[in-house]
Amino acid sequence: MKNIAILASGSGTNAENMVRYFAANKLIKVAVVLSNHAHAGVHGRVNALGVPSFTFSKEDFAAATPILDKLAAFAVDFVVLAGFMSKIPDALLAAFPERVVNIHPALLPKFGGKGMYGHHVHEAVLAAGESESGITIHYVNAHYDEGKILFQAACPVLPDDTPDTLAQRVHQLEYAHYPRVVEQLLTLLPPLHHKGE
Ligand code: GAR
Repeated sequence: MKNIAILASGSGTNAENMVRYFAANKLIKVAVVLSNHAHAGVHGRVNALGVPSFTFSKEDFAAATPILDKLAAFAVDFVVLAGFMSKIPDALLAAFPERVVNIHPALLPKFGGKGMYGHHVHEAVLAAGESESGITIHYVNAHYDEGKILFQAACPVLPDDTPDTLAQRVHQLEYAHYPRVVEQLLTLLPPLHHKGE
């Protein structure tokens, strides 16, 4: 069994979609969800599906050790960011080399970087008059939205779009592709050995 940890800060619709996708998979499962917000919607969504979730403070994330301990406790092999709005500490990236991926709700390298998340991204895409947007799945490195791109899919931006309608279209792409891309990556990946194993 390969274990995924999802890190999420908000509503958690991608996290829920990923849990559902892997529910029947005998080789891969979402073992645990970590958040930086105790009241984020993601907790209820995944707990209802039997996946435990935990909240860590900004300080815990920065220190990394509490996070690494939790990931080791669940024998996590791979980390999936799904609307996670906090910086990933270098120690976590070092412990999970090429094992941390993120989804960004636009076609990177456009509309990425610090402060570009959720609705801010869709607002910027509309303000720039783009005719298409989409999703980017990429490895996470020390710089926001700059890791190697693994997958992109595009959708049109329509003349009467609002940030909400564009977000809905982009979310549909996320649900269709993110679990599938994670599954492909994990299928190729050897298990990760944690200290003491
Ligand atoms: C998703 O659209 C994801 O791409 C975006 O946050 C949303 C979370 O939605 N992530 C970023 O903007 C990261 N820079 P969800 O909580 O419903 O899954």
